[in-house]
Amino acid sequence: MRLDDNTLLARLKELGVEVRPGVSLKDKTSLGIGGTTDQLLLRRYEAIPDVMRLLDENQIPHRFLGGGTNVLIDDGELPWVVLHLPTARPSVQIEGNVAVVEASADLGGMVTFCAKNDLGGMEGLIGVPGSVGGALRMNAGAYGTQIGSYVREIELYRAAKGELETVRGADIRFDYRHTSFAPEDVMLRVKLELPSKPFKEILAGIRVCNEKRRASQPLNQKSAGCIFKNPPGGSAGRMIDELGLKGHRVGGAMVSDRHANFFVNAADSSCADMLKLIDYVRGRVRDSYGIQLENEVIVWRN
Ligand code: EPU
Repeated sequence: MRLDDNTLLARLKELGVEVRPGVSLKDKTSLGIGGTTDQLLLRRYEAIPDVMRLLDENQIPHRFLGGGTNVLIDDGELPWVVLHLPTARPSVQIEGNVAVVEASADLGGMVTFCAKNDLGGMEGLIGVPGSVGGALRMNAGAYGTQIGSYVREIELYRAAKGELETVRGADIRFDYRHTSFAPEDVMLRVKLELPSKPFKEILAGIRVCNEKRRASQPLNQKSAGCIFKNPPGGSAGRMIDELGLKGHRVGGAMVSDRHANFFVNAADSSCADMLKLIDYVRGRVRDSYGIQLENEVIVWRN
């Protein structure tokens, strides 16, 4: 979608929004899949409610993109603009056992920064790609850690009210790869309360998780991490592997031959190919195990 109304563009500029026309979202997602649209960079959190109101008044469909590591975006010219929080030097501040972190900060970078300040607990999250905001939104987790356990407070844009809001961690439901936030809510800043731990000890924990990850996941290929959530008590990866589907392809989309719940963009895959692969594998698992796998990856269709 292209914004061409000069009055709207001027008003967006006044609100501190930088418009980048015709951006390929292939370059903004870890899967390397996605069509083209205008990208709006929001420089000031306080202006978000006004920006959202302005877009609604002008009937401009819009979606917020975080680190782009758990999303599968449609091909071609997209019928919505994409909003982005500024990612240059997002701040992480430490106050005692509390880290105050902007949502656009890199998750791994934040874990390392906290570790250097002798704050641990999040060792398992070190290799999880993406932004802190994205991790909060879906309660990202790995190796027994999930980010929700450490949340004391979140500042967000509450879409239903059109306002900025601060919510206490205790008032948010953090489930397995799911939270009580609405899909349109936008995470802005978080206060994490973390246990004190010597840096050396945290580093040892990080090394163990990194080794496990390197041994089992296709880290050098374009993916969105696990495609499906694990069913209660089960492992999607193990079932797909047992069905002999590692390496199975639809066009450029392929089930990883390393970890069967990672689907990789092996050769300039389209979104359509990836969706066909997802449907095919879901069908095979349903037919053989009677289990309907639920997407972990978020799909943005036209
Ligand atoms: N397995 C296979 N074949 C495979 C993959 C896995 O047999 O191709 C077996 C493993 O040998 C193991 C079991 O399945 O016995 C579980 O595998 P793994 O330890 O890799 O864990 P997972 O359940 O597949 C989950 C998360 C990962 C997270 C790891 C480590 C989900 C959907 N996945 O994977 O998270 O990194 O545990 O904690 O919850 C993600 O969410 O995107 C993600 C990568």
